[in-house]
Amino acid sequence: MQIAVIAGDGIGKDVTVEAVKVLQQVSSVFDAPIVLEHLPWGADHFLRTGETLPAGGYDLLRSFDAVFVGALGDPRVPDNRHARDILLGTRFELDLYVNYRPVRLLADRLCPLKHRGRADVNFVVFRENTEGVYVGIGGRFKAGTPDEVAIQEEINTYKGVHRIIRYAFAYAATHNLTKVCMADKSNAMQQGHALWQRVFHEVAAEFPGIAATHQYIDALAMFLVRDPGQYEVIVTNNLFGDIVTDIGGALQGGLGMAASGNLHPGRTSLFEPVHGSAPPLAGRNVANPMGAILSVALMLETLGRTAEAKAIEAAVEATVRAGETTADIGGSLGTREVGDRIAAALM
Ligand code: NAD
Ligand code: IPM
Ligand code: MN
Repeated sequence: MQIAVIAGDGIGKDVTVEAVKVLQQVSSVFDAPIVLEHLPWGADHFLRTGETLPAGGYDLLRSFDAVFVGALGDPRVPDNRHARDILLGTRFELDLYVNYRPVRLLADRLCPLKHRGRADVNFVVFRENTEGVYVGIGGRFKAGTPDEVAIQEEINTYKGVHRIIRYAFAYAATHNLTKVCMADKSNAMQQGHALWQRVFHEVAAEFPGIAATHQYIDALAMFLVRDPGQYEVIVTNNLFGDIVTDIGGALQGGLGMAASGNLHPGRTSLFEPVHGSAPPLAGRNVANPMGAILSVALMLETLGRTAEAKAIEAAVEATVRAGETTADIGGSLGTREVGDRIAAALM
C-alpha cells in the first residue's frame, strides 16, 4: 500500500508527524507494510520555488492508494494560492465528490453542551465537495474602486447534487441508519437549491426505509447546538458543509478532534483533519493530533483495512479516557507525547 503524505503548513506539519507515527506503528503491529512518500508541497515550497504543485502533480497523486494531508494555509501567502491548488485542486481534479466528516464524541466531558453526552453527538456529515461556490467561477469589475462589482457563482449540477445525496442515503442504508437530513437554503436560493429539493425527493423515494427530512441550513445550525441527538446523517452543499463541520468539530471537543475523508469510491482518495494550519500554534508542540490520527483511521477503513482502523480508533479513545491529551481538550501533554501514547496503546 502506497500513501502520499503532504504535511503542508503550520500545525499540519506537527500533526502529520504523529499521524505517520501511528500509521507506522499500526503497520508494524499488524505486520502489513505501508510505503510512504513525503511530498514537500506547501507554503515553504511555494515561496522557495514559485510552484504550488509540479506539472503532473495530480497524476502523481492518482498513482497512490491514498493521500494524507496535514493542513494548508500560511499568512506569508495572503491569497493562499498554494492551498487552493493543492487542496481544492485535488478535490476537483481527482473528482473527490464526497467529503465524509463523522462527528462522534469520544467522552462526555469533551461535549461543550450542557446535559449532553456521547449519545447525543454521533452522526455523519456528507458535504458536497466538487461544486457550489468553491468552483471559483466569477470575476471582478472595477476592482479597487468604489464601483467594484464582485461576482462569485454557485454551481449546482444534477449530477453533482444527485451523487452526493445518493451517497448519503446509500451510506445510511448500509450502516443500519434510519434518518437522512438534507440542509439547503431553498427559501432564499430559489434556483440552485430547488434542484437540491427535487433531487432529494427523487433519491428519498428509492429508500422507503429511511426517514428523509429537510431543514433550512440556518435552522440546522441552531439544532446542532440545541439538539444534536436528532441527527444520524446530514447531507448538504460545499459551503454549508464546511461551516456545519466546524460546529461538528466543536461538538466533539474542538476542531483538533475532527477527521475527514475526501472520497471518490474506487479511486484514490484524500484524508485530512478538518482543522486548518492554526499559525499561532505551529511548531509549539501544542496542537491536538487526534483529528489527524483519526483521519488515518478513516483512510485505512476506506482502503478495507478495517481491523487496523478500529485499532487506531480504540487507541485514541483509550488515550482520551485516560486524560492523556493536549490542553485544548483538558490535558497537559504535548502533540508528540499524545502521538507516543496513542502509538503505545496500539501494542
Ligand atoms: P484553524 O482550523 O487553523 O484554527 C482555528 C482555531 O481552532 C485555532 O486557532 C485553534 O484555536 C483551534 N485549532 C484548530 N486545530 C487545532 C488543533 N489541532 N489543536 C488545537 N487547537 C486547534 O482555522 P483558521 O485559523 O481559520 O485558519 C488558519 C489557516 O488554515 C488559514 O490559512 C485557512 O485557510 C487554513 N485552513 C486549512 C484547512 C485545510 O488545510 N484543510 C482547513 C481550514 C483552514
Ligand atoms: C476545509 C477547509 C477548506 C474548505 C479551506 C482551506 C479552503 O476549511 O477543508 O474545511 O473550505 O474546504
Ligand atoms: Mn473548513
